[in-house]
Amino acid sequence: MDIRRYLQTIMQRGGTGLAEELGRHLDEWSRRTGISVETWALPAGRVPQRVTDAVLACLAEALSNVEKHSGASVVSVAVTVGASGLRLTISDHGRGFLGRASGRGVVAMSAHLAAVGGRCAVNGTPGGGTTVSGIVPAAALRGP
Ligand SMILES: Nc1ncnc2c1ncn2[C@@H]1O[C@H](COP(=O)(O)OP(=O)(O)O)[C@@H](O)[C@H]1O
Ligand SMILES: [Mg+2]
Repeated sequence: MDIRRYLQTIMQRGGTGLAEELGRHLDEWSRRTGISVETWALPAGRVPQRVTDAVLACLAEALSNVEKHSGASVVSVAVTVGASGLRLTISDHGRGFLGRASGRGVVAMSAHLAAVGGRCAVNGTPGGGTTVSGIVPAAALRGP
């Protein structure tokens, strides 16, 4: 199953905690691509389903870029939920890129997080890797 289909499936199922969905998703992706995933942290609590969906959609695009563009053999993923909100970091030590990332994927990642009140940035260093950083402010985490 490709990554988008997989995400749609788990999103439709709904009702599962973000940590559980992330863990399952990352295992599947790592098995398929042969790229190791280092998980720095996982959210302890529950977040609204629409935020889970947005975070997973952003993560899917970031991982597809790691697979397609980075050449990296390891990617680090951190998702933490704290007083300031939810933070998402996807970081690889692959080939990186020069200048601003501009493409449909980068626009889509920002749009997914903007839809739940958050934002996202993609930073590359040529030869030094790429980091995607996203945040969803605490106010946007309230609700069902
Ligand atoms: N993890 C990454 N490693 C290297 N380059 C990346 C990475 N993520 C994004 N990029 C660069 O940013 C560009 C834009 O990404 P994106 O908007 O997803 O478009 P696409 O994947 O269709 O090329 C990519 O073409 C690539 O040059
Ligand atoms: Mg892309």
